This record gives sequence, C-alpha cells and structure tokens, in this order.
Amino acid sequence: MFRTVHYEIRSPKVPEPFDGFSMVHLSDLHGAVYGEKNRLLIEKIRELQPDLVVMTGDMADAGDGSALGLIDLCRRLLETYPVYYVPGNHEQAMKPEEQAWLMGTLKDLGVLMLANQRRSIWRREACVEVYGLVMAMTYYKDPMREDYVKGIHFSTEDTRQALGEAKESRFNILLCHNPLYFPSYRDWGADLTLSGHIHGGIIRIPGLGGLLSPDLTLFPKYDGGCFHESGRHLVVSRGLGNHFLVRVMNPAELVLVTLRTKGDKRDV
Ligand SMILES: [Fe+2]
Repeated sequence: MFRTVHYEIRSPKVPEPFDGFSMVHLSDLHGAVYGEKNRLLIEKIRELQPDLVVMTGDMADAGDGSALGLIDLCRRLLETYPVYYVPGNHEQAMKPEEQAWLMGTLKDLGVLMLANQRRSIWRREACVEVYGLVMAMTYYKDPMREDYVKGIHFSTEDTRQALGEAKESRFNILLCHNPLYFPSYRDWGADLTLSGHIHGGIIRIPGLGGLLSPDLTLFPKYDGGCFHESGRHLVVSRGLGNHFLVRVMNPAELVLVTLRTKGDKRDV
C-alpha cells in the first residue's frame, strides 16, 4: 500500500482565487497496481477531492504491458479531473512506435501532455501557469547508457531554451520528472516544481535520508519531500512503484499539494 503526503505551498504570488487549489501528484508508478484496476488508488484520489491530477513521469515501463494499466487509470480519472502529464525517462526510453502509441492514446483520451509546453489555468480573472519540461536522456546521467557524459549539466539557459521565458508576474508551476537541476528551474522562474524519479533514494536511512539515486549518486540532495530555496519550492514524490530495486523503509506515496496565498507556514 502507499501513504499519502500533504504539502501546503504558500506564496504571495498565488492569486487569491487559487487559495486552496489542490493537485494530486502521481509519479513513478512503474506499472504498479493498487487493488483491482487501481481501485484503491482511485478511491484515495477521490477522497482527496483535488482540482487537478498531475503525473510526472515513469508511469509505465517499456514493453511490459504496464501502459495498458496506465491508460485505464487515466481514463477513469478523466471522468472527474483534468490530468496533466509530463513523460519521464522510462517513457522516453520506449521504442518510438510504443512511445508514440502511448502518448497518442493518452492525448486522445483527454490527458494534457506537456512536453516543453505551457498551459494556463484560469479562475475568475486570475491565472497560474503550468509548464512541462522534458530533457534529453543524457541529462539523466545514467552511467549504464551509451550517451553517458560525465559532468553534464542542465542549465537555466537550457530551461529557457526548452520552455521560453517564464511569466514572472504569474505563479509558475513546473512539472519535470528529474529534480536534479532544481536550481536551474528555480532561477528560470519556477515558483513550484513537481518531480519524481529518485524513488526516495530507494533505501531510507534514519537521520541521513535516501541512500541512492538512479544515477548512482549516494545520498542525493533532492531525494524526496519538500524543499525551499530562494523563495521557490520543490516537491519530490518518492513515487508509487518500483523499478529494479525494492524499497526499504521507504513507503510508496501519493502526494497532495495545496496552494496558499500568504503566510510563512510552507508545508505540513
Ligand atoms: Fe525516472
């Protein structure tokens, strides 16, 4: 089973009509199924009554049939909620025809795919922006890949090249599977970044945090949870599923994020 984690993000840039706006954040499902046809996951999401569902990648893996479960999950969630989606490295690693079929099927269902794109959400006269950032696989720094480049970095300028200029007068939400380059996203103009990928560091060590990232970094900085830097926020889901290594003292999690307009209490 999974646990549910709630973060409250407070910023004076959140417009008043968005005070209390909530998003359920799913990441790294990797084909996991909670109850028949994900009944338990869907029931929990309905209980949370979000305004929006966002998925930040690695929701299905290549060639194992998990895409069918994801499509069914999205179809049922779309009956009630808008679903925004940014692909992760596992969707990117699919064969081109498999990736095109999955992305096309999700889009046809009504999932809003944000691959270096932006969508405005309006409430009354106010607006927040949601961006989805996708980067080339080499930036995942996987030492097992042929395109591994030691020391490669995804910069603020790279973020700008992918997404254009951030609308600084608005509250900017960035969906990006990989949290590794949060300082670049932050300096580009992301007020709130939602990420996954790290699986909480796989093994949680009390007092030290998550042990290992997918790029084999020990004790990765953004391993899971809520981080605040320079007035900007990062939420990293520990993810809902497993890939290759099994979690230890690191439960799967469903994340709820609520926006608040003011105050200094930043997460609960
Ligand atoms: Fe990933």
